[in-house]
Amino acid sequence: MSLLLAIESSCDEMAMAVLKDQREFLSSVVASQIDIHAMYGGVVPEIASRKHIEAIGGVVIECLAQARERTGKADLSWSDLAAVSVTYAPGLVGALVVGAAFAKGLAWACDVPLIGVNHLEGHLYANKIACPDIKPPMVVSLVSGGHTMLVHVKDWGSYETMGSTLDDAVGEAFDKVAKAMGLGYPGGPLISALAEKGNPKAVRFPRALMHSGDLQFSLSGLKTSVMTYLQKEQQAGREVNKADVAASFQEAIVDVLVQKSVHALQETGLKKIVLAGGVSANKHLQTALADAVGGIGASLVHPTPILCTDNAVMIACRGYFMYQNGEYSPLDLNAVPSLKLG
Ligand code: KG4
Ligand code: ZN
Repeated sequence: MSLLLAIESSCDEMAMAVLKDQREFLSSVVASQIDIHAMYGGVVPEIASRKHIEAIGGVVIECLAQARERTGKADLSWSDLAAVSVTYAPGLVGALVVGAAFAKGLAWACDVPLIGVNHLEGHLYANKIACPDIKPPMVVSLVSGGHTMLVHVKDWGSYETMGSTLDDAVGEAFDKVAKAMGLGYPGGPLISALAEKGNPKAVRFPRALMHSGDLQFSLSGLKTSVMTYLQKEQQAGREVNKADVAASFQEAIVDVLVQKSVHALQETGLKKIVLAGGVSANKHLQTALADAVGGIGASLVHPTPILCTDNAVMIACRGYFMYQNGEYSPLDLNAVPSLKLG
């Protein structure tokens, strides 16, 4: 049996997956540290690295156990590995190093190729699992805790960034606003759940650069505007309707993302857009974007919910294509904290 083991540890999730051939996932394990970082209102990089070291042994054992159970092959082990793929960039450097060091050791010990994967490409490839036949050219709206960008995917591996954020990333805005509202971490799922009970028209928050005519984003003003609104209401002794604030904030973000995505499709003349990154789990974004691009004859693909946020299945998916193309990494592969798509 020839299997690919994938490892993802770029932020606060230690994840591993085993892929057999191109499509058959034998296992997927995600060890989340959310409970620990939630106490601090966000990810503490030093704690993330230490917790990854504690988790990594248990995660690989669990991953192999799932693969044995799935295949019924009780003796499935390291010798069945054909390659090891690992996220090496971008992300928290100390967190990346844990996965990369483990992957290098394992690839060397098993004498199989090491494949360094760009985390952002991993998010893009998560769409191939939901929609195996999807093919470039297309536009990707990459929206995560660290990135907000519109990219023209000319071919697999050939990318042109059309626009990105000048300040905060969209997931970062969700997380910071949730923190200011006392909701907890990570903010995206908490705000979107609360927003379902609120009125998106209750407060008119700013939509910066919405009509700037380019594909740049600026989200820090929106975040500040929500914080100022909360402070003013508190000072005036008025009780804040948190659901209304969550819905109005989410509406402002989604309006901008949708407007710019439509613009990117019109500029490229393409009829296909995909979402990638943690924020693509946002149901309101998925629906509003699908409606808007449908209005200009284009279609939207987004990853299945569990594959929107960080996981190793997407790293296996990207890693497998690199494996097929012989795109191997040297054993002195280094973690790289910032790297673009392509
Ligand atoms: O891709 P990801 O798991 O990690 C990074 O690569 O950054 O994205 C995490 C981000 C967090 O900021 C989180 O709040 C956001 O994705 N997120 C969401 C939702 N689920 C996760 N944002 C909005 N709505 C959601 N449902
Ligand atoms: Zn991510």
